[in-house]
Amino acid sequence: MAEIDKPQREVDVPGDWTYASAPESRDIVHIRDRYGYYVGGEWLEPAETYETISPRDEEPLAAVGQATAEDVGRAVAAARTAYADGWSSLPGSERAKYLFRIARILQERSREFAVLESLNGGKPIKESRDVDLPLAAAHFFYYAGWADKLEYAFPNRRPRPVGVAGQIIPWNFPLLMLAWKVAPALACGNTVVLKPAETTPLTALLFCDVLRQAELPDGVVNIVTGDGRTGAALVESEDVDKIAFTGSTEVGKEIQRRLAGTGKRLTLELGGKAANIVFDDAALDQAVEGIVNGIYFNQGHVCCAGSRLFVQESIYEPLVAKLERRLTTLRVGDPLDKNSDVGAINSAAQLEKIRELVASGVEEGAEIYQPPCVLPEKGYWFVPTVFTNVAQSYRIAQEEIFGPVLSVLTFRTPEEALEKANNTPYGLSAGVWTEKGSRILWMAQRLRAGVVWANTFNRFDPGSPFGGYKESGFGREGGRHGLEPYLRFDE
Ligand code: NAI
Ligand code: MG
Repeated sequence: MAEIDKPQREVDVPGDWTYASAPESRDIVHIRDRYGYYVGGEWLEPAETYETISPRDEEPLAAVGQATAEDVGRAVAAARTAYADGWSSLPGSERAKYLFRIARILQERSREFAVLESLNGGKPIKESRDVDLPLAAAHFFYYAGWADKLEYAFPNRRPRPVGVAGQIIPWNFPLLMLAWKVAPALACGNTVVLKPAETTPLTALLFCDVLRQAELPDGVVNIVTGDGRTGAALVESEDVDKIAFTGSTEVGKEIQRRLAGTGKRLTLELGGKAANIVFDDAALDQAVEGIVNGIYFNQGHVCCAGSRLFVQESIYEPLVAKLERRLTTLRVGDPLDKNSDVGAINSAAQLEKIRELVASGVEEGAEIYQPPCVLPEKGYWFVPTVFTNVAQSYRIAQEEIFGPVLSVLTFRTPEEALEKANNTPYGLSAGVWTEKGSRILWMAQRLRAGVVWANTFNRFDPGSPFGGYKESGFGREGGRHGLEPYLRFDE
């Protein structure tokens, strides 16, 4: 904040305007000591468990099962039985009924889910409350609407369900990614075995309670927990018809290799290194808000994060000055505090990866800026960071950091911006800031990215398809496009 000389006053005016803490109560959520696997509508006892913690203070929250190939096999068998025993042949309007119920229950219980999401994953409560939960419910509402209209969505193509879908999701938007996967699968008449990420299983396990409340037939959705070994067992399971994966490019490639030649369907939503491009005619203050939302939202644990900022040279200095000043106002701290803008890094491993890449940026010669910031003593934290003087060849300009770290580069002409923006193995998203509609369209046509935001960033809607080009994966989630991976057609 700029220091302003204050005139002497007679009355006592408080001089300190820092925020008092405003913690959200965690009493609303009941966490069990131990969780098994949700298979065929029953809880199966795990043979082996691990502890899931809160990244805000490393507090152990619950013991969670590490599912073996045998456990996964049971879940897949339950999904197959439910598929054959009626779910796949239910009228679409009946399936819609369950999806509408799930959506409504998520809305009713949204505070409980938001608290649990922030506790287990580290994201600020204002994001889980205002973004993750409303969007997860909206996704179920949206696909509920399609369930009885598949023939209109794909006229003359006889859409039918694929079978049993194995779904593997990451830790950055645990419940929202569950919704992205489960809602379209069920709307199309498939059954599901879902594996949440090892660091964030709790909202998926609480979701089982929602399934019971909605009286979803047993076995239509099954949830197994565990690390990559459990994910690999699901991929290898013989009786799965389709795999949907969101996570790292490395694991995505591995899954694609394993499924080659098996005839199983696959969609991959992988990493990104999105360009956020600001032209000199953009509204700078709005652009700064968009840049901040683009890279510091959810601690930068966002596959479509605007992690490479391209600024037209003529506005480079004022823009960077505004951005750095804005960074000083971000409040980093307790995810359960309603005033926190940036929460905890999801895991020790992710924090280590961020630190390593940031050190490489300093080493390679970029200039680092971090606002003054007091971090909590326990837990995993990283200060929002901006790198300037970044060359295209630096690792921080090439690799996905998946943390609150922005690399700033410059350009002179639209052609140069485009060439630099597309110079990446990824292609998930991009942003363009300019007042000229024609320039937005010119850029959007040429940017190799699945989503291009204009004068905004990180906006999501269940009606809008999302997915990548190149090493960001293939297949689309959301919108009418998001139905297709879960359908077969008689051509
Ligand atoms: P990851 O790709 O290892 O984990 C994602 C999910 O895949 C988890 O549920 C995990 O248990 C599962 N998995 C791991 N190995 C598997 C295997 N061999 N077969 C089947 N499933 C497997 O990602 P990780 O290690 O958590 O993060 C590493 C990096 O990946 C991050 O730093 C970030 O750059 C990127 N990432 C990208 C995400 C995105 O949304 N596109 C999400 C998470 C991570
Ligand atoms: Mg991994």
